[in-house]
Amino acid sequence: MTKSNVSGVVLDTDWERYIDYELPLVTSIRKVKHGRRIIDSFTDTYAEAAFIGDIHIGHNDHSFNMFNAYLNFLKDRPYIPIGLMGDFIEYQTLTNFVNNEILSVDEQIDVFVKKMRPFKDRIIFMLWGNHEERIARYTKSNRFLADLAREIGVKDNCYVGEPERGVNILFKVGNNEYGAYAHHSSTGAVINKTIQLRRSGFQTGAALILHGHTHHLGYEQRTFRELTSMGRITKRQWLVSTGCFLKDAGYAEKRSYPLTEVGAPIIRFYADRGKLEFVDVGTDYRAYLEKGGMVFEGDTGPVNLKLSNVVSVLHPVLEQSGRRDGDGKQVRHVLDQGGRSDGAGKQVRSVISP
Ligand SMILES: [Fe+2]
Ligand SMILES: [Fe+2]
Repeated sequence: MTKSNVSGVVLDTDWERYIDYELPLVTSIRKVKHGRRIIDSFTDTYAEAAFIGDIHIGHNDHSFNMFNAYLNFLKDRPYIPIGLMGDFIEYQTLTNFVNNEILSVDEQIDVFVKKMRPFKDRIIFMLWGNHEERIARYTKSNRFLADLAREIGVKDNCYVGEPERGVNILFKVGNNEYGAYAHHSSTGAVINKTIQLRRSGFQTGAALILHGHTHHLGYEQRTFRELTSMGRITKRQWLVSTGCFLKDAGYAEKRSYPLTEVGAPIIRFYADRGKLEFVDVGTDYRAYLEKGGMVFEGDTGPVNLKLSNVVSVLHPVLEQSGRRDGDGKQVRHVLDQGGRSDGAGKQVRSVISP
């Protein structure tokens, strides 16, 4: 399509920060049964993509158990590519927050790279979050994300973003196409978290708008109309907030922020009709997540208030491949175990709720 055959008042066409991505198709057969009778039977052809961000590896309240469960879910579904929405690591330097980092910055990067490497061939894009932008601000260098992408080993077709910028994507799904715009975003809206998301939707007439940063997981729809020689075309736009993997951070409780919603959206794009769907992994696949090691019933162990243990968690003494707990014993990296270490170096189960 060129500028001359786009109808209407066209001011500009360009390909800036624009990628197209062909999503792998899957087919599913649905049967509706009532008693022994099959009432209906459908064959659906669709593709799915996961949009993961606000992971905050290294923060004391990072939901590593839920994060691992999602990654296991994706490992079992190799047809789902991944868009990375920013805020991968915590990096609290330059902030006034009470220190609640339990990993050094290098460890945060190492954990993220290790977690992402198995998915290197299916990462669609990587965006900067404000936590990565702190590194750009501090170092006056914008190379961090490209270096991170290189370390993960992403393919050439992975779009590596620029600070403060989003990405426009044309998802090709069989013979269907869905325009999308993804941005980490930046907003101080605490209650009306989707205000900026809606603004973004007004500015880009894409079927799917994705924002991170607000730690809200969910979507809303906007319906609008275009008038063409084909008649009045009514379209639907999806505005999606991409969740987080950070549960009940202290700064949020202190300010009475709304509770964070842990998880990430998987969006289903239909090939045979214009339809999007929000796959709620935390609810629809709960049994799967529990089988994968998720614990939903809460921690029944005693709370450890011994000061030396608390201090050792906040200020870990690193020794080669491990860390020492308050009693000087070696404790393995907490993030790799899907569990949390208590002061005595024993594994305790984590309290996780979606
Ligand atoms: Fe975040
Ligand atoms: Fe953010």
